[in-house]
Amino acid sequence: IIDPKDEVVFPSPYWVSYPEMVKLAGGVPVVAHPKDGTFQPTIEDIAEVCGSYTKAIILNSPNNPSGVVYSREFIAQVVEFCEKKSLYLIMDDTYNRLIFDGQTPINCYEYAKDLTESSKLIVVNCVSKMYAMTGFRIGWAVGNKQLVRTMANIQSQETSGPATPSQWAAVGALNGIQSSIEALRLTLQNNRNVLVARLNAIPGVKVTKPGGTFYCFPDFSAYNKESQKLAQFLLDKVRVVTVPGKEFGREGHLRLSYCGTLGDIKQGVERIQWALDPNSANELYIGGRKLVRDWA
Ligand SMILES: Cc1ncc(COP(=O)(O)O)c(C=O)c1O
Repeated sequence: IIDPKDEVVFPSPYWVSYPEMVKLAGGVPVVAHPKDGTFQPTIEDIAEVCGSYTKAIILNSPNNPSGVVYSREFIAQVVEFCEKKSLYLIMDDTYNRLIFDGQTPINCYEYAKDLTESSKLIVVNCVSKMYAMTGFRIGWAVGNKQLVRTMANIQSQETSGPATPSQWAAVGALNGIQSSIEALRLTLQNNRNVLVARLNAIPGVKVTKPGGTFYCFPDFSAYNKESQKLAQFLLDKVRVVTVPGKEFGREGHLRLSYCGTLGDIKQGVERIQWALDPNSANELYIGGRKLVRDWA
């Protein structure tokens, strides 16, 4: 949908793949940074970076990496804005079934005036998260017929299409017992509660409570403003894997995943705190191995 030099706008923090995907398609990624520094963009933040080259906007809510769920009002405003300016709007709903605290998934088509074949509203989703089927690489797109047909043409030449066993596994998931989604959602909500409570107990770490997904994106800049260095430090010293916020367009943050067990989550935060807090005990045992704190 984009010609060379066309721009695709998305808010920060963003999924790491968006800038690269846009570049691979020959376009120019343009990031809309929420002015108030939060993870919740406003329509003004988006409108401000849209110009004559803008062709499409991507929204991902619930958001990877922040876990923030964008408000209904914001989604409605962006749908209206895109219709008015004739822009494509790609809604990445990958995590829309994994939302907490009684929220319900947002269907962006509710806010669209144009539901004809000239609609430029596209919803993408996949089996990866809601069915815990990461790695199967099965997703889908909802959009106007011509566009979806073109996507299928491109994909059939680029990859010859997704592997057949993956496709059948996805059919099984979609037609199978759906209670697994609710069980996963409840587990993740509980994991989120435990993780957020423990992170809030670390002085200086600023936490935005995730409303969905299985990620949390705390601000660790009180300890190290360079997220790549901090992530490497935590990996080297206490064997905790995090993803540097820089890759998501927000330096000073780390993305933590809470889709593991409660035991792993508790131990992960305990190790992070031990590594960061200068007042920590001198020693920590990991899997029977004694670690000695030899850094300031
Ligand atoms: C925001 C977002 N969109 C899309 C995907 C794609 O998932 P998959 O390639 O597993 O279908 C992911 C996976 O991490 C994601 O986080």
